[in-house]
Amino acid sequence: MITQVEKMQKEVLVIEGKRKLQGILRVSGAKNSALPNMAATILTDKEVILENLPDLLDVKLMKQLLEDIGSHIDCIDNNVCSFRLSSPKSFVANYDIVSKMRASILVLGPMVARFGYAEVALPGGCSIGARPVDLHLKALEMMGAKIELQHGYIKAYAPKGLKGAHIFFEKITVTGTENIMMAAVLAEGQTIIENAALEPEVVDLAKMLKKMGADIQGEGTPRIVINGVKELNGTKHTIIPDRIEAGTFAVLSALSDGKIIIQNYPMEYLEYVNEVFKDIGIYILPVDKDKVIIKREERLKPVDIQTKEYPLFPTDLQAQFMTLLCFADGVSQITENIFENRFMHVSELNRMGADIKIVDRTAIIKGIKELTGADVKATDLRASAAMVIAGLVADGITKIHNIYHLDRGYEHIDTKLKNIGANLWREINE
Ligand code: EPZ
Repeated sequence: MITQVEKMQKEVLVIEGKRKLQGILRVSGAKNSALPNMAATILTDKEVILENLPDLLDVKLMKQLLEDIGSHIDCIDNNVCSFRLSSPKSFVANYDIVSKMRASILVLGPMVARFGYAEVALPGGCSIGARPVDLHLKALEMMGAKIELQHGYIKAYAPKGLKGAHIFFEKITVTGTENIMMAAVLAEGQTIIENAALEPEVVDLAKMLKKMGADIQGEGTPRIVINGVKELNGTKHTIIPDRIEAGTFAVLSALSDGKIIIQNYPMEYLEYVNEVFKDIGIYILPVDKDKVIIKREERLKPVDIQTKEYPLFPTDLQAQFMTLLCFADGVSQITENIFENRFMHVSELNRMGADIKIVDRTAIIKGIKELTGADVKATDLRASAAMVIAGLVADGITKIHNIYHLDRGYEHIDTKLKNIGANLWREINE
């Protein structure tokens, strides 16, 4: 009898390529908005209801982490849950969860702010980079927290509460901005965050915190100003659509004759990405208030892409666009500026017949006519999405190993793809 973990590690996704795909793909709630909004429920003893929560492995892990701390969670279905942390039963985010999901670091700010103490396992590196959290810790120290690293855990003390501070992030950090925003809403006095992240998920978090009674200005700009308040209320909040899932579906649609309609495609969060699509010869066309279709030119044009912070090209769509540019008529380049090790899908795509070379932080992609099915490995969440797209358009059968990465960030993806005619199934690889 194999354990749940062994099953997860041995599971492969088998895809028969070149099937005609048509129908509606619905974009779910955003993982990278759901996780910080769930962490923010720590900041009040009142009930917070979150709607449009995506049913993902990472969301399950965050629920487990919050329940370990003492939160009472009630879900009327997989996408609507109420959270209430009347009083804590633990101040620890343990290694077992943090090692599976780095975003667990998001409970640090809210716990120190509300309880004056938190113990969070230090997130190690992951397959895409070292990913330190030094900027989070430095900012909390500027707000008066005493930070110690002991036995692999961050211990943060602020028994008298946090104090407002003027913080300059040397580097733009998404979860760093979110963590400090959550720490500052209950701090004494004013906090200013300079060089803040502009991502829509940061703005969505600020929106919910303001509904809870927080005093925040400037979210969505590089300078966020927060005046601390004594306590926060409960609220109800709907998670924004997942722009990365939407971009992933648009790439698939462009490579499969565009008979796929995408529902909840957040045009407003993908303006720059839509421009890049246009440069390649792909057009995102609204068909009604919440649906788009994808039209493309016969010949896809090669382009050069630089991954950057929002609103420029997201690193979380880099791998999917690499699969797309395998079919461009010419040579494209993608430079990865955010994470130092986010090209592990290159060797897997080359196993399927792609022609990609890496020079420093740039991948040089020579257009080819066809990919062929093969055994490949998913190396991280977004790389797994790139392999699924490749498998769906390749000639023959593709087997994707370590597919558990996919379930961390794509809700019910097998069902969604089968509903538009894909032939795919999961097997346990003995
Ligand atoms: C968020 O990660 C996202 N995760 C990532 O999505 C996304 O790739 C990333 O932002 C960039 O857009 C969530 O929102 C849960 P960063 P985060 O801090 O916040 C360096 C996905 O696929 N840095 O903005 O961890 C860091 O190493 C995931 O859904 C420091 O040096 O990323 C990186 O090079 C993957 N010190 C850069 O800054 C710090 O203290 C940006 O990282 C913090 C970050």
